[in-house]
Amino acid sequence: MNIAEKVYCRVFQFGFKLAIPVLPYRNPEVLNSVERILEMLKEKKIERVMLVTDGVVRSLGITKHLEELLGRKGFTAVVYDRVQSNPTVRIVEEARQLYLQKDCQALIGFGGGSSMDTAKAVGALIARPKSNLEDLGGILRIWKKTPLTIAIPTTAGTGSETTVAAVVVDEESGHKYALMDFPLIPDAAVLDPETTLTLPPRVTAGTGMDTLAHAVEAYIGRSTTKQTRREALRCVRLVFGNLERAVKNGSDRKARRNMLRASYLGGAAFTVSYVGYAHAVSHSLSGKYNVPHGETTAILLPYVLEAYGTTIYPQLKALAIAAGVAHMDTEEALAAQSFIRAVWELNRRIGIGTKIPELKKEDIAKLARLAAAEGNPVYPVPVLYGAKELERFYYDVLEEGGTRA
Ligand SMILES: [Fe+2]
Repeated sequence: MNIAEKVYCRVFQFGFKLAIPVLPYRNPEVLNSVERILEMLKEKKIERVMLVTDGVVRSLGITKHLEELLGRKGFTAVVYDRVQSNPTVRIVEEARQLYLQKDCQALIGFGGGSSMDTAKAVGALIARPKSNLEDLGGILRIWKKTPLTIAIPTTAGTGSETTVAAVVVDEESGHKYALMDFPLIPDAAVLDPETTLTLPPRVTAGTGMDTLAHAVEAYIGRSTTKQTRREALRCVRLVFGNLERAVKNGSDRKARRNMLRASYLGGAAFTVSYVGYAHAVSHSLSGKYNVPHGETTAILLPYVLEAYGTTIYPQLKALAIAAGVAHMDTEEALAAQSFIRAVWELNRRIGIGTKIPELKKEDIAKLARLAAAEGNPVYPVPVLYGAKELERFYYDVLEEGGTRA
């Protein structure tokens, strides 16, 4: 990246950083069990709600308790259970039609990031009935209050339960884009370990490392606040203390609860302080090959941290202390390297590899351009890279190896 581009990126990021204190960021109210939803609905005088979920979560019986509870207590629960792993414009539109037909008053996104994002996107269309999703894509395009939205994550997690974003895919063009505005932050998030107990180890591992990446990328970036630094460190502490246990013993309720808390904190940190290139590169890969976002991000994270070098050593030392692999008096370089090693090690212990087999060498240049377009100028990364420089990360994770750019 040339000097002029770097200056442009940094000025852009500085402008957004200055705006943080005046922007209406808020954290969703935390509800510790699904039962608490009833009190909230009563308080808001809401009688008809729409549950947005996917067929797998519903067939596993995870939504059953809430559906029955709502019915027993006299609420009408309309269920939309056709969410797919990358929510499409058609899915969101279908869910919106059902919401309007049944005269619903609130949304409950119940599932992984896709179900929560679908509920949030439906909320955006309800708030802006004359717009389509494409019009609402990008930053600050909604500007109107959405219906009451409650997020119930069944993975820990994408952080969608706390963020300003909802990601959708246009199935015709293949274009994946995010709606990002403050009304999309859910009003409440239910962090109930019962909803994550059936999550398979591989998904637990990938989504858990995604959570770690949210906290780490937010923390090492240049737009942190005292609060997001605190949230990120708490998230890192929880992931290192609980993820391996949650992967190896899915019914460990305490580990599951702590991972839900970690996901919430990681989401709260990155929705204010952004993610970085591990995410930008990962998004380009998951869009192209439909590989799980959490896993690809987990694989990329240590490579990206190594590439930044000594610039981020002070931050890495703080993260190493939070992870329990260094002390205050550990020498900075040693602590920083210990943290990166701890990420490699955690990946290995929970079954995450070091390469992405789906990646094809001939796609790298195009994917790197997509990653650069996502990251620059928005992500306040510690070291700026253009598309050509970002290619190195694809070669890092290329199974067959190859020459770095
Ligand atoms: Fe992520």
